[in-house]
Amino acid sequence: MVYNTILVETKEKIATITINRPNKLNALNKETISELHEAFKSLEQSTETRVILLTGSGEKAFVAGADIAEFANFSEEDGAKLAAHGQELLFDFVQNLKKPVIAAINGFALGGGLELAMACHIRVASENAKMGLPEVTLGLLPGYGGTQRLPQLVGKGHAMEMILTAGMITADEALKIGLVNHVVTQAELLSFCEDIALKIVKNAPLAISKAINAINANFKDGENGFETEIKSFGQSFATKDFKEGTTAFLEKRKAQFTGE
Ligand code: COA
Repeated sequence: MVYNTILVETKEKIATITINRPNKLNALNKETISELHEAFKSLEQSTETRVILLTGSGEKAFVAGADIAEFANFSEEDGAKLAAHGQELLFDFVQNLKKPVIAAINGFALGGGLELAMACHIRVASENAKMGLPEVTLGLLPGYGGTQRLPQLVGKGHAMEMILTAGMITADEALKIGLVNHVVTQAELLSFCEDIALKIVKNAPLAISKAINAINANFKDGENGFETEIKSFGQSFATKDFKEGTTAFLEKRKAQFTGE
């Protein structure tokens, strides 16, 4: 499929989505959000893909936020729709995807950009990356899940400070507070993320999906994560991957998982 604002490439079961509006620092407009939704949906269904990397084009930005030009004249109703629609199509969609998504944060990750990185399952930043939620400087608050996911990742105190001051933090500061898992040079960023992805690719795909779902359950209202885990654990015993994994262990060979 050909997209206008993103690039998608797959090799060795790892798909890379690159948000490709470098002149606008990869800001998320309506078209980009819609294309990202389509790309994630089709990669989730593809048997050729087990892990997805998400990055921004150019050396300056992952994503510098939602496209400010697009919502500058919005009404209250438009604003609420923008947030609800974006969360459904992209941010919640990525968080609940059945395949792991790794954010390779290659520069500015601001506003919706940081919110998108936070919706991914794993985050790695390059040394030059800068992260923040500057919405209050525009008279807004984060609307793509930032007020919820940031405290989940870094705790309420750091989240309050970042959101209320609108300050940007460096990659090293982000590492210190647990906002990213690793910091590497910009040159190494994608290969470092691919190495994480390759470790995941070796494992049982259905178990990976169920693990994502069970971890997410901990953060969902009205859902008991322990019950989700117990149910998913039981279901795993009915998969071919479980038979293959245990048989391969007993036969002292590497498992070949099919995701069935
Ligand atoms: N929405 C729309 N356009 C954006 C954008 C955004 N969130 N962020 C950057 N751009 C555009 C700029 O308008 C500029 O376009 P132009 O060349 O047509 O004028 C281009 O990207 C380059 O940005 P510029 O501001 O010139 O780069 P810089 O290096 O001076 O500053 C930033 C970089 C990230 C500090 C600055 O672009 C910025 O503050 N962006 C907005 C961040 C933000 O508030 N995000 C939250 C949105 S809810």
